[in-house]
Amino acid sequence: MTDGVEGLFARTEEFPNQAAQARLTALVGLDETKDRLVADAVVLLDPTFISDWSTRVHGQVIPAVRALLDRTPLFIFAGDVGVGKTELAEVLGQAIARESDTDVTLYPLSLTARGRGAVGEMTTLLTRAFERVSKDFARARRANGKAVAMGVLLIDEADALAQSRELAQMHHEDRAGVNALLRGIDGMRTDKLPVLTILCTNRIGAIDPAVSRRAASVVMFERPTHAQRAALLTRLLACTKLQASDIDELAAATGSRAGCDYGYTYSDLRQRLVPEIALSAYRRGVAVDMAIALEVTARTPPTRPFDLAG
Ligand SMILES: Nc1ncnc2c1ncn2[C@@H]1O[C@H](COP(=O)(O)OP(=O)(O)O)[C@@H](O)[C@H]1O
Ligand SMILES: [Mg+2]
Repeated sequence: MTDGVEGLFARTEEFPNQAAQARLTALVGLDETKDRLVADAVVLLDPTFISDWSTRVHGQVIPAVRALLDRTPLFIFAGDVGVGKTELAEVLGQAIARESDTDVTLYPLSLTARGRGAVGEMTTLLTRAFERVSKDFARARRANGKAVAMGVLLIDEADALAQSRELAQMHHEDRAGVNALLRGIDGMRTDKLPVLTILCTNRIGAIDPAVSRRAASVVMFERPTHAQRAALLTRLLACTKLQASDIDELAAATGSRAGCDYGYTYSDLRQRLVPEIALSAYRRGVAVDMAIALEVTARTPPTRPFDLAG
């Protein structure tokens, strides 16, 4: 296709695959969240799992299960920059595929990257994205409700929608972007398509209440705790001279402290601090040690929280 629909998504990805499994395994501190979301997603996408259970243990599909099945397969991931929203959203399909033993396809759409500019452009992108996914999954469910394939539609950087809404109000236009999103989500629900929509945002306040009200789950992501920083640093600095006590000291040095009431994000540790520690040791031609780690930490401050950023 040449009308832009094929260029709509950054790249689709099929699960299960090994690279996604490795990324899933590398996530720290999200096990409980992940397990809960996966169980929930499987039930939302394939109701036969829970209705089979209900029939087995209750002899029928109980009303509580029917109420559960009325929900919209929509998750909202909110929280600061660099805390794992995109990462978990991109690999959740892997866990869903493993849990349900069903192939899952990810359709990633970033509103910032793709929808910059006019309100109308973002509206068109969203509409086309839902059309494409709806077409791909139109025949993905058997008559008994069993999903033969599942989809994850990731709408990342969804704050852009709110900006468009504010702009739209300024210009007395309608809430076209939000309405396109609502139409898409409601349409897939009405058609009972086995597609999970995940909306990621740095500001939960940016999400229209009409959207968040529909979400089966809203997850607030946080910066890592001391234990989570230590767990990540242990993995990232494995095979160096650093001992467990050094890692603990580094975890403390990357937390909040006097003069700075916020700690490092996951991406601060993984994409800035640890690579810089390695580079610094490399430039000196020596092994990574604690003196280098602390020196680099001192000159690599954490990212300011999003809502404080000016
Ligand atoms: N829970 C985590 N465990 C390990 N690494 C993480 C975790 N969360 C984020 N990261 C790392 O930080 C990077 C940025 O995370 P990302 O998901 O893009 O943040 P955002 O919340 O801004 O979408 C990821 O590529 C990953 O390397
Ligand atoms: Mg992100």
